[in-house]
Amino acid sequence: MNFEKSNQGGENDSTRAQLREKVEQVALEALIVNYAEKINEGNNGIIMGFNIDKIPSDLKKIMIESHMLSEEKEDDAVVKLLKLSEPGKLQLEYELQKKAFEIVENGMRNEPQAYAAIPRPRAFRVLNVSGTLQNFMKDNEITLKEGRLELMLMDCVKGEDLDTIMMREYLLRHPASPFHDKPEMMEGWSFFELREEAAEIGGFRIDFEKGERNFNNQEWRDYTRFRTTRDADLERLGFRIDSRLIDSVLHASDQIYSQADIVWGDGNLRNVMLEGSYAPSERRGEPLRGKAWMIDFGSARDVEALKQPAKAKQDATKTIEKTNARFGTI
Ligand SMILES: Nc1ncnc2c1ncn2[C@@H]1O[C@H](COP(=O)(O)OP(=O)(O)OP(=O)(O)O)[C@@H](O)[C@H]1O
Ligand SMILES: [Mg+2]
Repeated sequence: MNFEKSNQGGENDSTRAQLREKVEQVALEALIVNYAEKINEGNNGIIMGFNIDKIPSDLKKIMIESHMLSEEKEDDAVVKLLKLSEPGKLQLEYELQKKAFEIVENGMRNEPQAYAAIPRPRAFRVLNVSGTLQNFMKDNEITLKEGRLELMLMDCVKGEDLDTIMMREYLLRHPASPFHDKPEMMEGWSFFELREEAAEIGGFRIDFEKGERNFNNQEWRDYTRFRTTRDADLERLGFRIDSRLIDSVLHASDQIYSQADIVWGDGNLRNVMLEGSYAPSERRGEPLRGKAWMIDFGSARDVEALKQPAKAKQDATKTIEKTNARFGTI
């Protein structure tokens, strides 16, 4: 009798969990289709932001209950989607970012300035693709390898990546630039718009329209020369950042490797974000005024797992099976 009762309870729990997932699916779909806007993109990913104040309260409530949003007023999150959504790819990114986040969060308790921060990954979900999502994907040039769309929610970084900062500083500082000392003229410009202008100022004709993936050898050489010229010019034009910000990125990256065997795998200027002031301080020993962020765990790897390929493969299969079991039936 008791057994029957507890078994029934179990069924109720799983029905409730299934219902919860269905509700979340609908809520997330509504969120990304109606309230999210692309705020940035890389080669592989699309970052969408949303204005929390515009989200209807019932939708917000579901998101809060699922820990995707918190109740704090200043709370801001972004959604990351991959342009080619492959089963398990974003999930691995989410899991490695989560482990790395925990290490850095812990380290920051004792040495707040020594570590670059990592955006807290809040949730990973897989969505079944409905009619409305299909339009959304078409508009954002997202393709699926299999029938479902992976997405993750994480904290929004209130800053810019270092490459974007350097493109803007180049246009601001270069004497031949029409934007010299005119930051207001470039307000709201994307990385791609800044890069286009910066290359022109540097005297390089590069067809960015075709996309880096399609560059031939000569185009790669030109792009590399443009970037080397930009960096040398910036140095000459007095652009400096507080070296402690870069040290904090290196330190965080070392720690996630030594404590969790995670190699970040893609340390580049677009994957470091800076928030607040990045100029070196005037006086020695002055506390940092800005903060560095380490982002993009899309190329990160757990090197310990890679040393045991059979086990890693087994684990990956299990994860995909688990995901399918969770989402396949609803
Ligand atoms: N949490 C975040 N908050 C605010 N902006 C972000 C966040 N994560 C990423 N960005 C911005 O979006 C850009 C692209 O994101 P991300 O690097 O994750 O995409 P990606 O396509 O995987 O990159 P890559 O081109 O290196 O493969 C970043 O360079 C950064 O400017
Ligand atoms: Mg990136």
